[in-house]
Amino acid sequence: MQHIIRVGCLAVVSCFASWSSVDAVTKTIALPPETAQLKPSDLPGYTIARAKCAICHSADYIQYQPPQMTQSQWTAEVQKMQRSYGAPLDADEIKLIGIYLATVYGDAASVSAADR
Ligand code: HEC
Repeated sequence: MQHIIRVGCLAVVSCFASWSSVDAVTKTIALPPETAQLKPSDLPGYTIARAKCAICHSADYIQYQPPQMTQSQWTAEVQKMQRSYGAPLDADEIKLIGIYLATVYGDAASVSAADR
């Protein structure tokens, strides 16, 4: 599984020690804009994913997954967010988000007919 670690938000500010001057130095740090958005969909999982999947990280993490991920792979990924990282999700929400992510980001044909 592809793994992306973002470091773009961390700015390293060097500090200058000046022995001869006490002038205050103000620095402005421009952070990169938060551009990643979940792709819109009429599926109920979209609304839930918007509310729950941005609590800890941006949608980049979702976007960078392999495009052929199946419903069961996406569902397992969402389950991992709940089990390993404590994402506040119940079983229904996990299922619906798995359907949404597989349909919109993964292998839509893998979504079982009953869940479409
Ligand atoms: C409670 C915090 C939390 C929530 C909520 C959360 N995640 Fe994550 N997620 C993480 C952490 C922590 C990582 C691992 C980050 C790393 O390894 O750099 C991660 C990583 C990921 C990855 C990258 C692949 C991987 O397995 O490391 C994906 C995809 C992902 N999350 C999807 C989701 C989706 C979809 C949701 C909504 C259902 C979600 N996350 C909600 C904490 C969370």
